Amino acid sequence: TYVVTENCIRCKYMDCVEVCPVDCFYMGETMLVIAPDECIDCGVCEPECPAEAIKPDTEPGLEGWLALNAKYAALWPNVSEKSDPPPDAADWDGAPGKLQAAFG
Ligand code: SF4
Ligand code: F3S
Repeated sequence: TYVVTENCIRCKYMDCVEVCPVDCFYMGETMLVIAPDECIDCGVCEPECPAEAIKPDTEPGLEGWLALNAKYAALWPNVSEKSDPPPDAADWDGAPGKLQAAFG
């Protein structure tokens, strides 16, 4: 599966949802997540994210992100249509400590 990671937080560009063939993105207030049990591993979303926040879970060190994606995909609503990113998205792109700020 692919997972959405920290740099999505407060950037939320949403280009990813437009290309996913199985609509497996779910949207929270500050970020999106992928439902691991629905993702078919096609990989098309990864290069579409301007924040480079989407990664294959075969990369090392993503266990925590995989768990977060699974947890919130079960709680947040499905999203398949792009909406506008936050007006200050560019300011947050690459900012450190976004996970702490968003989830405490
Ligand atoms: Fe959707 Fe493919 Fe990305 Fe999985 S890898 S979330 S199926 S676009
Ligand atoms: Fe987030 Fe990138 Fe999608 S910033 S909303 S994973 S395009």
